[in-house]
Amino acid sequence: MAIIKVQKGTKDILPVEMPLWYLMEDAARKIFGAYGAQEIRTPIFEATELFARGVGDTTDIVNKEMYTFEKSERSLTLRPENTAGVVRAFIENGMHRLSAPVKLWYKGPMFRYERPQAGRQRQFHQVGVEVFGIKQPSADAEVMLMAVNYLKALGLRDLIVEINTLGCPKCREEYKLKLKEVIKPYLSYLCEDCQTRFEKNPLRLLDCKVHECQEIYSKPAIKEIIQGDFVCDECAKHFEDLKEYLDALGIKYQRNKLLVRGLDYYNRTVFEVKSNNLGSQNAVCGGGRYDSLVKNLGGEDTPAIGFAMGMERLASLLGEQNAKILDAYIVSNNQLEAIKLAEYLRNKDIACEFDLTNKKFVKQLEKASKIAKFAVILGEDEMKANKVSIKNLETGEQNSVDRTVILDYLK
Ligand code: HAM
Repeated sequence: MAIIKVQKGTKDILPVEMPLWYLMEDAARKIFGAYGAQEIRTPIFEATELFARGVGDTTDIVNKEMYTFEKSERSLTLRPENTAGVVRAFIENGMHRLSAPVKLWYKGPMFRYERPQAGRQRQFHQVGVEVFGIKQPSADAEVMLMAVNYLKALGLRDLIVEINTLGCPKCREEYKLKLKEVIKPYLSYLCEDCQTRFEKNPLRLLDCKVHECQEIYSKPAIKEIIQGDFVCDECAKHFEDLKEYLDALGIKYQRNKLLVRGLDYYNRTVFEVKSNNLGSQNAVCGGGRYDSLVKNLGGEDTPAIGFAMGMERLASLLGEQNAKILDAYIVSNNQLEAIKLAEYLRNKDIACEFDLTNKKFVKQLEKASKIAKFAVILGEDEMKANKVSIKNLETGEQNSVDRTVILDYLK
């Protein structure tokens, strides 16, 4: 019988990977919780119109990547991202009546019909934060701090924070006109996507990965427009104030004037966090301010800002570093004593296992070093002296410990 395989661009998350996922989920609860954010879980499918109106019908996500289906004559879509869904829930549940800021975080699967490659799947997971009700740049700074501190808590280092400002609809309109004016002479040389973007969403031209288009956009006259500052005084002040906060908070960042993001709802601040260890799909986190979205989706005028991170990308960065699933592995040839000790430790929240089949000590130690942080050795000598030997499987350091203090030692 032919085997039915997992769908292209989707993956099983296997038990051996679970420790990483628990780590990411626990850190989200802890770090975002410390900023007063609460978890929200919204449905995985929503009305197609929510994304068409929310994310924008000129974006690749809405045009090419949505999993849309009909049921009872309704057009439904598997969520390609969760900002639109959270905004819908915010409006529908009257959360604008809560005292601002309303801080929400989420995690869960998203679906985009993209060409699968390393770091890019058709079903992937995001963990994200949305903060409603504050228009001041202090909220931008705090949201970025939440992202950076979450990544730090996971032990990730060497990440690059890029920021940019997209201005407000008014100053952006002037910028778009100028951009179109300088690019127009090259229109017929641009890729098909850019030709459409030119008409529908010229800012997205800057995001094109096609080499020929990039060459055109690096021509001096075009570069001058891209690198120039187009934003109005108010938007410029917002961006300057944000940078002041980031400097004061010690968040290192780079300005990337090409950073425009692939979703239509943004205004003013946009940001991404990237890693050089991820290849071409190098963004672990993307976010920004979206002050008009709540109103555009039928709610009260409410400023907002947020971000989302790709959990598979995070997991691949965390890699082996946290692959140890057990706190301790008991190495012993006395199974009765081992099971008693294991139960004692488990009752005290120490995740542990022991060898059920009485293999040789060396084999047991080999297994321990693959799956546990510590080996708790319970040999004949140790049992006689009412002790255990505890080996730190990272450093190799081994100590003889009284059985009454095992817990203190392991914790
Ligand atoms: P996004 O940049 O489309 O933003 O996605 C955020 C993150 O999700 C990316 O940086 C990446 O790590 C991950 N990601 C996106 N697509 C894929 C994929 N096909 N496979 C694997 N990982 C992927 C948003 O979704 C916005 N909703 C973020 C936001 C929240 N802005 C404001 N609030």
